[in-house]
Amino acid sequence: MTPTASQDPAAFYAAGYSLDSVEESHRMGRWRAIGARSKAAHAAELCSRAGISPLRVVEIGCGDGALLSALSEAWPAARFDGFELSAPATEIARGRGIPRVERLEAYDGTRVPAEDGAYDLAILSHVLEHVPDPEPLLAEAARVARHVLVEVPLENNRSAARPAKRAISEAIGHLHAFDRAAVRGLTARARLSPAAELSDPLPHEHHAFFAESALARVAAAGKWAVRAATHRAHPHSAERLFTVHYAVLATSK
Ligand SMILES: C[S@@+](CC[C@H](N)C(=O)[O-])C[C@H]1O[C@@H](n2cnc3c(N)ncnc32)[C@H](O)[C@@H]1O
Repeated sequence: MTPTASQDPAAFYAAGYSLDSVEESHRMGRWRAIGARSKAAHAAELCSRAGISPLRVVEIGCGDGALLSALSEAWPAARFDGFELSAPATEIARGRGIPRVERLEAYDGTRVPAEDGAYDLAILSHVLEHVPDPEPLLAEAARVARHVLVEVPLENNRSAARPAKRAISEAIGHLHAFDRAAVRGLTARARLSPAAELSDPLPHEHHAFFAESALARVAAAGKWAVRAATHRAHPHSAERLFTVHYAVLATSK
């Protein structure tokens, strides 16, 4: 039996990227590509708002390279490295042949094999909620780059607190249910000041991806419409009701 994310993170994420069926691997690849489009758009927006044009970028916890691939298109002048706990994920990422991606390596999940200040920007995208103790990993990102972009799902809300939803989050390795204040606390303790932030209730294609019947597709469309409208009208209240993705670009003090 595969260990849980807290028992043995490396084994858990190795298994997560080694799905038996080719069809299921392709489906999850398409799912990650949808997520990567939103995440790359968030990164581009926050860097633009903060007046940063990063040329050396590292993604820590780069998974199968979906986000690196989207970022490589968004930032044609940048060069990238990616480090990952899961060796099978790194292999998938290497197989993509992403332009201007140089080092793509599995590492121990603790010490990023790069010098202090090696990068303009370090990205921790949907990683901190998977790490038993997120503070040292965030400090490590701040060691290798002056600017750090953190994106996480904010799961400390009414909808995500339901037992069925918690069970789904735990099954995919989420060890923390953050709210915005918790992320701000983490960045402050890593001596990082927020330069720009955003939240996103996610596009329709995200909510509809796993809807397989006509009824499920109608429900997904309804859910997306209600969430998007609530988030537009009351973004901070929305965070207490349902999960949004929160991204913050922070700079070393
Ligand atoms: C939800 S995926 C996110 C992948 C990618 N960053 C993205 O946003 O598409 C979480 C990733 O974090 C990785 N991970 C977990 N603990 C880690 C650690 N300590 N250091 C680096 N990566 C880690 C997992 O192997 C997994 O690939």
